[in-house]
Amino acid sequence: MNFVAALNDTAAKNLQVLEENIKQSIAEDPFVFEACAPLIRGGKRLRPMLFLLCANAKKDLPPEKTMPLATALELIHTASLVHDDIIDTSKKRRGVETANSKYGAQIAVLVGDYLFAKAFQLVAENNYDSQVQLILSNLVKNLCVGEIMQDRSLFAVPTMSEYYTHINLKTAIFLSSCCRLGAIAAEMNSREIENLTAYGSGLGLAFQIIDDLLDFFGDERITGKPHGGDLKSGVITLPVIRALEISDAAQTLKKIVTRGEITKTEIDAAIKIIRATDAVDYCRTRAEAHIESARVNLPATLKISIALALEKIADFVVDRTR
Ligand code: IPE
Ligand code: IPE
Ligand code: MG
Ligand code: MG
Repeated sequence: MNFVAALNDTAAKNLQVLEENIKQSIAEDPFVFEACAPLIRGGKRLRPMLFLLCANAKKDLPPEKTMPLATALELIHTASLVHDDIIDTSKKRRGVETANSKYGAQIAVLVGDYLFAKAFQLVAENNYDSQVQLILSNLVKNLCVGEIMQDRSLFAVPTMSEYYTHINLKTAIFLSSCCRLGAIAAEMNSREIENLTAYGSGLGLAFQIIDDLLDFFGDERITGKPHGGDLKSGVITLPVIRALEISDAAQTLKKIVTRGEITKTEIDAAIKIIRATDAVDYCRTRAEAHIESARVNLPATLKISIALALEKIADFVVDRTR
């Protein structure tokens, strides 16, 4: 079951409507539908659900006011994954073959572009104001800059601060924007808007740190994406950065991760070196600290059912296996 459906009855109902809206949004062009239908199916829907929970945190809003934007958020996210998989030459996403693997990079670029365009079409058609458009375009710009910065330093060890810059730009700003858009839709005051934005930001940093751990230690059958992919594509993340700081075998690890080419045996050797340090605990502790900062920023003025759901999402983000 999708974790969102377990939050509460309203979330489960919203999720059903959202799924229908997402499916409809890709139905216009037969090829786009064929290419996207399998891929779009398996996501956790974290971003649209954050938006919907925050938007309904004071009183229930009519779905026609929230669903188009919730759908647009998931389309933007999926578009970014389609492009991310081209960049990483990844073969599997959400448990199925990626668009780049199935149709080649040329077609996959265009499928990603189509999904971005469709998202912005939904926003324009449903008369969301310029503030919404600005938040959306900024989050996409930041995501791109984060990925560009990361891809300009492949096979090089980032500093802790560079790592945080990358994950903030590519992931945390997206999650915080979803919460911010929800708070704005709910007509919250500026303090509540800032607090929910900060909640989303803490959540997002923790989310990416756990994603980076799952890349090493997750189960491919559960995550639905390949294992060890970050090292293979040269992306050096927190578990490695931490292990390089404290491992006796730091020199060997550094050689493996920076050489520019990495074999399966070397990936296993790197994982063994990382496991022999406190890197896993360190990453979890960092993620938990960001979750704690998310939690303290939850406004006390939200409907209790929504506050509980947002708390549950915070728990889910550190405990998740997919
Ligand atoms: C994957 O996001 C990209 C990251 C920011 C780590 P999700 O883990 O939310 O992907 P889906 O939507 O569930 O497939
Ligand atoms: C997040 O980073 C990607 C995007 C922001 C699109 P990752 O590269 O870690 O995401 P996965 O692991 O491929 O889902
Ligand atoms: Mg990736
Ligand atoms: Mg990842």
